[in-house]
Amino acid sequence: MDHFNYVDGWLHAEDVPLTRIAEAVGTPVYVYSAATLTRHFKLFQQALDWTDHLVCFAVKSNSNLAVLKLLGDLGAGMDIVSGGEYARARAAGVPGERIVFSGVGKLESEMRLALTGGIRQFNVESEPELELLSRVAHSMGLRAPIAIRVNPDVDAKTHEKIATGKSENKFGIPIARAHEVYARAARLPGIEVVGIDMHIGSQLTDLDPFRQAYAKMADLTRALRADGHDIRRLDMGGGLGIPYRRDNSAPPLPLEYGQVIRDAVGDLGCEIEIEPGRNISGNGGILLSSVVYLKEGEGRDFLILDAAMNDLIRPAMYGAHHDIVPVREAALGAEVGRFDVVGPVCETGDTFAKGVDLPGLAPGDLVAFRSAGAYGAVMASEYNSRPLVPEVLVQGDHFAVIRARPTLEEMLGRDTIPEWL
Ligand code: LLP
Repeated sequence: MDHFNYVDGWLHAEDVPLTRIAEAVGTPVYVYSAATLTRHFKLFQQALDWTDHLVCFAVKSNSNLAVLKLLGDLGAGMDIVSGGEYARARAAGVPGERIVFSGVGKLESEMRLALTGGIRQFNVESEPELELLSRVAHSMGLRAPIAIRVNPDVDAKTHEKIATGKSENKFGIPIARAHEVYARAARLPGIEVVGIDMHIGSQLTDLDPFRQAYAKMADLTRALRADGHDIRRLDMGGGLGIPYRRDNSAPPLPLEYGQVIRDAVGDLGCEIEIEPGRNISGNGGILLSSVVYLKEGEGRDFLILDAAMNDLIRPAMYGAHHDIVPVREAALGAEVGRFDVVGPVCETGDTFAKGVDLPGLAPGDLVAFRSAGAYGAVMASEYNSRPLVPEVLVQGDHFAVIRARPTLEEMLGRDTIPEWL
């Protein structure tokens, strides 16, 4: 459920007509709904209200400071993967004790940044990382709280580029080696073991892979406790999918997911952490774009938009589907055209969708890509020297630009021509 609905024939974000935002800010532009972000965050809070827990929003899915502040003020923790994301979470007012640091390639400088500013836990992904973290923390007179990310070798049944829990993926340590690696961790002077971490993939639409992984997590908790480790936190990762198609049977709800966690590890007395990204931010945002041209091709018509693959890379990168809808609701019985929806970038891959039925559209008309709040703006680039797409946050009947569109001067101003040229 989201708060992007037609009112009097025009698509709105909450109580704001999208036409108003397009007039004020121009297109393309990402538009987020505060009510939708809030609602989805709260669903996860409720799903875990049977135990001590922290819902850590995966900052990589949407890292705008205003979005982080909104969620942080609701009590969210943050799952971060870089010094940049750490800085963002802190700048949004989230205290270090609510930030978990994931990622396979943490740098020494990033470890120092987090240890200096305060951190809840590092999710360690390898032995070399463990050794380095111990050295860094010890040199600062600290012990770094850690969970070790364990790779449970389960098939998440999702797109291969975003599955992370199979043994051939680069993530975590093999579960068979956990006993040994935890023993090493316990002997390191700069390390304090606090828990176990897993994350098996993204856009999971079936709960079974979670069940399999979490059963292994429960067994491992018991085994490591028997070894004498104080396992008091379990980080279950993120990954619960969202419906990208309105007509599709919907993926399981956060409440059902919470029950899977409870069934698997509820009797262990651990504090539970989860790291949802897409499920909180995905349906909380749309990408608003204008039609530039209608072009007749050989046996097909093209709808050429002012948004391109550099603004929303998911269709080009994963073959992902986003519903594309007109901002002016199609009148009943209106004539429908069939289009390949494309952007202006000079690659055939700059195709958002093929054979989409849309009502009579003309240049200047607006369309919206639904479910674009996660992995949308954060993956945007300036390819083809197109300025980074701006972002707007709506709450009720008002909106604010939360990231402005850079001017051409700003974009060019970042480059330097050396004086010897
Ligand atoms: N925790 C860890 C350690 C992760 O690697 C991820 C996502 C998450 C949590 C959040 O997963 P979520 O709840 O959002 O599924 N760019 C891709 C998705 C990449 C996901 C990477 N890791 C896409 O556009 O589909």
